[in-house]
Amino acid sequence: MCGIVGATSERRISEILIEGLKRLEYRGYDSAGLAVLNEQGNIEVVRRVGKVQALKDAVGEQPLSGTTGIAHTRWATHGGVTEANAHPHLSNQCIAVVHNGIIENHADLRQQLQQLGYTFQSDTDTEVICHWIHHERKTHGDLLTAVQATIQHLEGAYGTLVMDCHEPGRLVVARSGSPLVIGLGIGENFVASDQLALLPVTRRFIVLEEGDIADITRTTVTIYDRDGLRVERTVHEFDGQYDAGGKGEYRHFMLKEIHEQPTAVRHALEDRLTDHGIADDVFGNGSLALLQQVEHVQIVACGTSYHAGLVARYWIEALAGVSCNVEIASEFRYRTSHVHRNSLLVTISQSGETADTLAALRLSKQLGYLGSLTICNVATSSMVRESDLAYLTRAGAEIGVASTKAFTTQLVGLLMLTLAIGQFRGMSEAQQAAVVQSLKVLPSKLEEVLRLSDAIEALVPEFADKYHSLFLGRGTQYPIAMEGALKLKEISYIHAEAYAAGELKHGPLALIDASMPVIVVAPNDELLEKLKSNVEEVRARGGIMYVFADKQARFQSDSTMRVIQVTHCDELIAPIVYTIPLQLLSYFVAIIKGTDVDQPRNLAKSVTVE
Ligand code: G6P
Repeated sequence: MCGIVGATSERRISEILIEGLKRLEYRGYDSAGLAVLNEQGNIEVVRRVGKVQALKDAVGEQPLSGTTGIAHTRWATHGGVTEANAHPHLSNQCIAVVHNGIIENHADLRQQLQQLGYTFQSDTDTEVICHWIHHERKTHGDLLTAVQATIQHLEGAYGTLVMDCHEPGRLVVARSGSPLVIGLGIGENFVASDQLALLPVTRRFIVLEEGDIADITRTTVTIYDRDGLRVERTVHEFDGQYDAGGKGEYRHFMLKEIHEQPTAVRHALEDRLTDHGIADDVFGNGSLALLQQVEHVQIVACGTSYHAGLVARYWIEALAGVSCNVEIASEFRYRTSHVHRNSLLVTISQSGETADTLAALRLSKQLGYLGSLTICNVATSSMVRESDLAYLTRAGAEIGVASTKAFTTQLVGLLMLTLAIGQFRGMSEAQQAAVVQSLKVLPSKLEEVLRLSDAIEALVPEFADKYHSLFLGRGTQYPIAMEGALKLKEISYIHAEAYAAGELKHGPLALIDASMPVIVVAPNDELLEKLKSNVEEVRARGGIMYVFADKQARFQSDSTMRVIQVTHCDELIAPIVYTIPLQLLSYFVAIIKGTDVDQPRNLAKSVTVE
């Protein structure tokens, strides 16, 4: 989704801005632009549809000399993907604005501004911000007070960064809903929507709180809260583990991240397990006092993280012995729900900034939940800061839009949550020790399953001319089938649906023919025999199947079925192990389809608007 970068320095900053935008490419976007205040006091703007490279090439042709500037990658919400709609937007050649989020009352504001004589160059909601600041600037002495006055008129969620041609060396940034960080340099300061954008220039960051407005010069950062009071915010040193680095030997970040999973899981386990349970502080100091009261778990998440929640429901109900509901955040937040007694609200999120999940977390505080816990990959994220308890997945930066290592480490965290709650609800020491043992062998099982890469790649030419596919699983593998289908559609653009295999007869059997591959996840679990019957139902109707099966499950390849034998593993960790072949399948299919694997069309990594 949209990305923001800003800088004020003594050196030329256009290269820093462009490098920052490049580092935000992974979030998903469709156009990019920058505005730099030059030595003559003029704002120069360059915008391009398409990749940041196109912007870089354009800037290369007309180098910019300014030392203060703002830049943006846009993911269209209001107005098509055009150069005119790309940010920055300008008012009277003097106020330049970049913006993430949505101004919900933009139509009203636009009308009022038009009556005041402002003309609009774009179809965006953002353009109202720069004109309104320009309007306020006429009555207020400086940019900061003009921005503070403008904010009073804006409804919706936004992060916005502003520059004024009359105030060289100054940036004003406001946060309401969309995350923003300030990067602290020596004699220079920066702004970004994600600290990854600024790693080449600083490792010291301030994360702005909701409602904060910051007034930034080369040497000062002054922050005001939503009431306009001056506040101090903590300076964080960057956590090195969260630096993605480059792609290394891999062709795509996604492939690199698939292969990083054994290491990511090792990190996720480090210092957190005892011989027969988990360490007391895994979810934060004092977490046990809250967890021992839990009688129900409500999980809320989006996308891949939602699938992790669906797997966890099987574990939490079967092992921890408490009831568990799982819901998509965008639904949860807009319906009246019943809050069970002593219910824990669990959010799951790679980014910790997904708008709907964050809104659900905030809503839960008014609904009488016992408390909140987030399973999250970003320590400085809004969800971690606003939840009572947190489990950091330690997956490291995930750059591919399609989530991989974040998902498997979320599942590790959810198994630990199962242990944490289960220990107070009759889970025996032997059961706990068995879970611990399964977790300990997990990294080596993941290494084994990654060795299937060549065998899976060899299958994919058969997908080259396919447009539809069906994924089947039962029990904990049903959500894994859903995740496999999501991965395939996200990056290969093949329509993929997942079904609980037992539900086949209730509709999807009608779709079966030789042109729709059916992917089956078949570990050697207690539902294997039932699943085999479902496989026969598909075979009898001429379906072509790709079966990921445990060696002991005794599936044989034949003219209707390709069997990929997966390393034998304990049923408990099978959802994590079987995720990996499905990720590899999607990746290799996307390669033969020739799609943009790391930044699939129309999708964003961090969805900060609802
Ligand atoms: C987007 C991403 C997905 C991700 C989902 C939820 O759709 O493309 O990969 O699963 O958002 O994001 P979160 O950061 O909350 O896990």
